[in-house]
Amino acid sequence: MKLQSALNFSHTLLKEIVQPGDTVIDATAGKGNDTLFLAQLVGKKGHVYGFDIQAKAVELTQQLIDNNNVRKQTTVINDGHENVTKYVTEPITAAIFNLGYLPAGDHSIVTKPTTTLESVQSIMQQLKKNGVIILVVYYGHPGGEKEKERILQFAQSLDQHVYNVLQYQFINQIHEPPILLALQKR
Ligand SMILES: C[S@@+](CC[C@H](N)C(=O)[O-])C[C@H]1O[C@@H](n2cnc3c(N)ncnc32)[C@H](O)[C@@H]1O
Repeated sequence: MKLQSALNFSHTLLKEIVQPGDTVIDATAGKGNDTLFLAQLVGKKGHVYGFDIQAKAVELTQQLIDNNNVRKQTTVINDGHENVTKYVTEPITAAIFNLGYLPAGDHSIVTKPTTTLESVQSIMQQLKKNGVIILVVYYGHPGGEKEKERILQFAQSLDQHVYNVLQYQFINQIHEPPILLALQKR
């Protein structure tokens, strides 16, 4: 067994938590990898809402969804995840955020601390018991360090009676290894 990267570990956690029929969110769809993974976990009776502010990302995600026959349980939305409550009103089992920029895209389009936290807090209002919000925090780009600090500060401030908060990261790697944060509602 090998220790998993933050990204792989995010999928391990989602696989444990998400069940067929659940409603889940991919807050940063990008190329659609997480949207597809979640669509396969929730099955035809569940639903995944994928958000991205870039039309190109929405197009790539929709293509991946269509090519894998999971269209029925997937809605891809070209809007900021801070507007999540406009689109999702039912209880949520899990949400994933991959922060930073789309590697194959425009590196100047990045997630921002204020909108990220706005979205996390909205999702928390709809999160089911034992539901989880996962953030994979990349912070090597301009503005990334500030976003990381704001999110860590927020996560550390959550009442331990209400949320279990996990931080997972390789601590002996150069080049800012991503941090995984998991907030689980108790
Ligand atoms: C690290 S990438 C996501 C990678 C994706 N999970 C994948 O598997 O390809 C971050 C994405 O967040 C998007 N983004 C930035 N700000 C956003 C916002 N406010 N709401 C939704 N998406 C946003 C960017 O356009 C970018 O595609």
